[in-house]
Amino acid sequence: MTNRTIFLTTALPYANGNFHFGHIMEYIQADIWVRHQRMCGSTVHFVGADDAHGAPIMISAQKKGVTPQEYVAEISAGRAKYLNGFFIRFDHWHSTDSKENTELAQDIYKRLKKAGLIYSKEIEQYYDPVRQMFLADRFIKGTCPKCGAPDQYGDSCEVCASVYRPTDLINPYSALSGSKLELRKSKHFFFKLSDPNCVEFLREWTRGTAPDGTPRLQSQIIAKTAEWLGKDGDLSDWDISRDAPYFGIEIPDEPGKFFYVWLDAPIGYLASLKAYCESKGINFEALLETSTTEQIHIIGKDIAYFHTLFWPAMLHFSGKPFRVPDHVWAHGFVTVDGQKMSKSRGTGLDPLVYLELGMDPEWLRYYFAYKLNSKVEDVDFSSADFISRTNSDLVGKYVNIASRSAGFLVKRFEGRVSDPAIAESSLISEIKAAAPDINASFESREYGKALRAVMELANKVNEYVDQKQPWELAKQPERAAELHAVCSVTLEAFRLLTLFLKPVLPRTAENVETFLNCGELTWNSVDNALSSDKPINPFKHLMKRVDEKQVQQLFELS
Ligand code: 2FM
Ligand code: ZN
Repeated sequence: MTNRTIFLTTALPYANGNFHFGHIMEYIQADIWVRHQRMCGSTVHFVGADDAHGAPIMISAQKKGVTPQEYVAEISAGRAKYLNGFFIRFDHWHSTDSKENTELAQDIYKRLKKAGLIYSKEIEQYYDPVRQMFLADRFIKGTCPKCGAPDQYGDSCEVCASVYRPTDLINPYSALSGSKLELRKSKHFFFKLSDPNCVEFLREWTRGTAPDGTPRLQSQIIAKTAEWLGKDGDLSDWDISRDAPYFGIEIPDEPGKFFYVWLDAPIGYLASLKAYCESKGINFEALLETSTTEQIHIIGKDIAYFHTLFWPAMLHFSGKPFRVPDHVWAHGFVTVDGQKMSKSRGTGLDPLVYLELGMDPEWLRYYFAYKLNSKVEDVDFSSADFISRTNSDLVGKYVNIASRSAGFLVKRFEGRVSDPAIAESSLISEIKAAAPDINASFESREYGKALRAVMELANKVNEYVDQKQPWELAKQPERAAELHAVCSVTLEAFRLLTLFLKPVLPRTAENVETFLNCGELTWNSVDNALSSDKPINPFKHLMKRVDEKQVQQLFELS
């Protein structure tokens, strides 16, 4: 057992839309890791928040005729349905439009200013003469300067993933009014990313290892950061201010100027942690300052630039109690039957429809987990694959093991296992021997590898049952001892498989804990075999099969 203390976040979703499968996949990835850590004895503070600020939210609120605060509150009120529905258990959910975030963002800004890393200068910026406002990057469209893809947003290209300034776009136009844009002057504030100290820090940080000796970043992301940092560290300074009208946090002593949403968004991680700490009586600053605390962010690959350059630099140069992240782990996008889902276009499957159709959240948790590894790869939700994977693995291989043996044990042996049969079983020894590798696979986010190993073991258990044929033994009263042994071994095997699957299938694991009367399953209880003093309870149905029609409906209704 470990006693790590981990502060873990997922990316903060913009509060201008409901969750789609991409969000749910990220949260499931994180939630599995958190549950695994807790099963290892770690203390994890797993927090999230709505990313409330920015021009898009302000404009959506205007369109709806409500204040941005009202707009965000409504979106935020809808979050719990999704999170609870998929058993995603954040310790706290906050908002970047909060007192904590305002204080932290203004504090961090002042620290960076004191460190000589903030300066202001007049810049020319696109102005929409019809809407009478400077336009946020997302409301400027044009042709990508790098790859030539048309209709790309002003900050980054969805086709080639490059990041640039809106003024780099070819043929820019207003996505709000469609009008041609004017360039106008305005004073903006910049974070001096090009400062040699900053570049040097980032070179070291991006290539470095966390205190546990593992690389901070995945190799694909290290390669990307090396590319961004370039040979001569030619990073552009970062424009962190926006002009009123803007929904955001005011820059201290600069009336009419607000922090750009991406400045206060990651600070929202800290704001959420702070609010959580306050509610739990934990000392926020002491927690951050403790050298063994780990800070980890799970994000999508599209926002790696912000999280591996701006964010560590902001934290590093702000000084204590802030700490740089130990890890930033990026994942790929969710594709549906091979097609990219776009958060800007809002297409794809609707997680709420999934739940409303009565589909089991653990099917999806299992399916995503099966497809996830530690690399930055896209995850495809394919309907045929989803149906066959969940039906054949979860129901066919796993749940069946229990249903086949529990009845005999309860009816014939008062629900009590044979202790010696379990102690002497080579099958049980073999399953237990696999535990360290499966644990390590969860630890390194190689969930697919972990689940493949579990299913191989499930195959072995099923082969064992097929070979022993308990249903035949049950017909022969003189072979009761053999029947007892087979059912005992099978159920102990089922206990172990459930332990391994618990981070992915928390509800089923809880039901199995009750059914097997075995106490809480943790990585410390691998050796706590079922025991004859604690009879098991009658088997209750654990999981149904995916119905093809439901999946069809999911596609039709989304
Ligand atoms: O890309 C997004 O959805 C952003 N709202 C993510 C912010 S992550 C963090 F910085 F808050
Ligand atoms: Zn491009």
